[in-house]
Order: sequence, then C-alpha cells, then structure tokens
Amino acid sequence: MVEIGTSNGYSTLWFAGVLRANGGEPLLSVDLDGQAQREAARNLAEAGLTEQVELREADGGAVLRALPDGGLDALFLDSERPQYAGWWPHPRRVLRPGGLLVVDNVLSHPAEVADFLALVERDGGFRSTTAAVGKGLLLAVRE
Ligand SMILES: C[S@@+](CC[C@H](N)C(=O)[O-])C[C@H]1O[C@@H](n2cnc3c(N)ncnc32)[C@H](O)[C@@H]1O
Repeated sequence: MVEIGTSNGYSTLWFAGVLRANGGEPLLSVDLDGQAQREAARNLAEAGLTEQVELREADGGAVLRALPDGGLDALFLDSERPQYAGWWPHPRRVLRPGGLLVVDNVLSHPAEVADFLALVERDGGFRSTTAAVGKGLLLAVRE
C-alpha cells in the first residue's frame, strides 16, 4: 500500500496498526515535508509501529510515476488535491485488479477533486462509492 500525504502520521498509524495485526508488506508513506516525516517517525516509534512503514520524503506524483504496473493493493491520496488529476493515469496504473483507491476530502473540497473524480468515472474501470465519514472518502475498486 502507498499513502501520499503522511503529515505527522495520524492516518499512517491507523494503517500501520492494521498491518501489524494482519501482516502484509510495509506501507510506503510519502510526504514532501521532511519535518512532518520526522514527526511521523517519532509517532510511529512511540506506537511501536516503525517496522510497518517506510517513510519517504518525496513528491507523491514522482513516486507514483516510478511504481510498476499493477503492484499495489491500495493507494490513499491525502495531499494537495488539485494535483491529483495531473498524476493520472498512474493512480489507476499502479493498482492491481481488485486494488482499492481511497481519496480523502471528496465531500469537504468537491471542487478541488472534481477533475480527478471525473477521470476515475470516465475510466470505466472502477466500481466506486463515496463514504460520508470524516471529510468524505472516495472508495474505488479497480476492476
Ligand atoms: C492533509 S495532510 C495529510 C494528513 C494525513 N494523511 C493524516 O490523515 O493524518 C497533507 C500532506 O500532504 C503533503 N503534500 C502536499 N503535496 C504533496 C506532494 N506533491 N507529495 C507528497 N506530499 C505532499 C503535505 O506536506 C501535508 O503534510
């Protein structure tokens, strides 16, 4: 799994806890902000979850472009929303069939994700729904 937008690691901690409980390859969590990543590293260490996460200070779009086709079970986008459309088609390309794309803030910031959601819709290769939890999550399974 890949997370774009680590910040201080709040969502990362949740994903890492699930990985510790269920096994699976470490989460790759990416953020441009090195200070935020250092905070996330401290928070993960305090929670005993260091082994479940690879933190990387990098641009999310560049990381997605460099990933191989179809290798990811899940991709979580939680960074600068207007950038997502410019990352297409990589969010689709990197997911395996049955893989899950999750996009945060789709109800709180609809205008900022509209172009991206239109690409997902037009692609025709996803089954998707919006979960009205928190700030709104797009959940899209690659067929
Ligand atoms: C809303 S915060 C992430 C919150 C975190 N996922 C959570 O739920 O606790 C957004 C983060 O995205 C990062 N960010 C913004 N643009 C980015 C990019 N192009 N690549 C990677 N990270 C980016 C910011 O530095 C910021 O830390």
